[in-house]
Amino acid sequence: MTRRRFVGATGGVAAAIALQQASAMTPGGLRLAIVGTGDRGILDWGSSIVQSFQGRVRLVGLCDINGLRAKAARELLGIDAPTFTEFDAMVAQTKPESVLITTIDATHWRYVVRALELGVDVIVEKPLCTDEQQCQRILEAQKKSGRRITVAFNARHEAGASRVKQLLTEQAVGGIVSIEAHEYLNTTHGADYFRRWHHLKENSGTLLCHKASHHFDLVNWWLESRPVEVSAWGELSFYGRNNPFRGTHCRSCPHKGKCAFAWDINKNDAYRKLYVECESEDGYLRDGCVWREDTNIYDTMSVRVRYANGVILTFTVDTYLPYEGLSFSFNGTAGRLDMHDFGAAGYRNQELRLTRGGSSQVLPERTGRAAGEHVDADLSTQELVFGPQSGPDPLHMRADVAAGALSSLTGIAAYRSIERGGAPVKIDDLVRL
Ligand SMILES: NC(=O)c1ccc[n+]([C@@H]2O[C@H](COP(=O)([O-])OP(=O)(O)OC[C@H]3O[C@@H](n4cnc5c(N)ncnc54)[C@H](O)[C@@H]3O)[C@@H](O)[C@H]2O)c1
Repeated sequence: MTRRRFVGATGGVAAAIALQQASAMTPGGLRLAIVGTGDRGILDWGSSIVQSFQGRVRLVGLCDINGLRAKAARELLGIDAPTFTEFDAMVAQTKPESVLITTIDATHWRYVVRALELGVDVIVEKPLCTDEQQCQRILEAQKKSGRRITVAFNARHEAGASRVKQLLTEQAVGGIVSIEAHEYLNTTHGADYFRRWHHLKENSGTLLCHKASHHFDLVNWWLESRPVEVSAWGELSFYGRNNPFRGTHCRSCPHKGKCAFAWDINKNDAYRKLYVECESEDGYLRDGCVWREDTNIYDTMSVRVRYANGVILTFTVDTYLPYEGLSFSFNGTAGRLDMHDFGAAGYRNQELRLTRGGSSQVLPERTGRAAGEHVDADLSTQELVFGPQSGPDPLHMRADVAAGALSSLTGIAAYRSIERGGAPVKIDDLVRL
């Protein structure tokens, strides 16, 4: 979606924001540096900044632990910003006003804390952090520095999510008592987490942090409450050790002729440039085997969360399904609201259904997972993140450090509970908030 189409589609509020931005703009635009020049940093954020935010955001530096990837990123973006492998050197030389952190999850905290110490505002991808110590360090650094941390929760910007927020704010089904939620990941999207760095808990904090932090954030935002206690079970029942054969990565694998998960990374030009041609620097294999025996995250997860306002969430994530989707149902004192979007070839269940007072109706709005929705949500997120922080935000879409911390802590509490055989974990026992 182009910026023009975006402004047209979202109407008055976005136009008003754009006008304010124009007047608040510094010459050349916001000086932004990116650390983490992989898929998300470059192919989503970087390319969008170059295409849609010219004059409003200026990329002044690119940093990655893999210097070849930082250079490949610069080439892909077609910009002349200098590249670095040292974050401090990048900040010292390029003097950014903000840094965008799109490194692997378990490293976010290092750059958040360091950027704050260096007096730079932070925009960070979810999850904010992957364990309780990281969370504590971030909260303390933020308090000391007074700089701004924005967590880029693009899932808040999906059409269905913001419509639900509106309906719950209007008390469309009365007070919420409980929520049922399910994320369905298929053998393409779901499997990809087991190919990449995410397959190790020490990198991703499991999919309960990496992926579910989106959904835990949505619930906090929808309910305007905070999680208190979490219990969970998780298993690795499909990927990892659950196969008779395995290799290191697809390209060199002797089993690729018979493996349903064989994947040719070289078919994707950008991935070849960003990953294959940069392997000599760090040995990272983007097409890692989904059957690796050291995989220590879960592919099957079941979580219960109790919130400060008494609401109970029941949430599952499964990663090897024949279809993709998401389903949320809100049980209220005056009715039930269902948001479903899932389906396979020839079948799609995509609806927002409001049931109350003896009638059940499908609302005309999209539920938010239609093709291209991720791109729209990203652009909407970027419009908000790069816009003036005092601009209108009627649905409270902006996500601060507390939102980042509470959503990550829900995932952290869930995997701690799994480690403890399903015993409940209190959020207040993890960090001093
Ligand atoms: N909101 C969303 O929809 C969404 C989607 C995808 C990814 N993400 C997030 O974006 C981030 C990046 O994910 P990705 O898919 O681009 O992964 P990626 O592997 O493509 O990129 C990560 C980059 O970080 C670099 N890196 C790793 N350790 C580093 C360190 N210590 N210092 C500097 N650089 C380091 C890697 O070399 C790599 O270039 C993750 O936090 C992920 O959760 C968010």
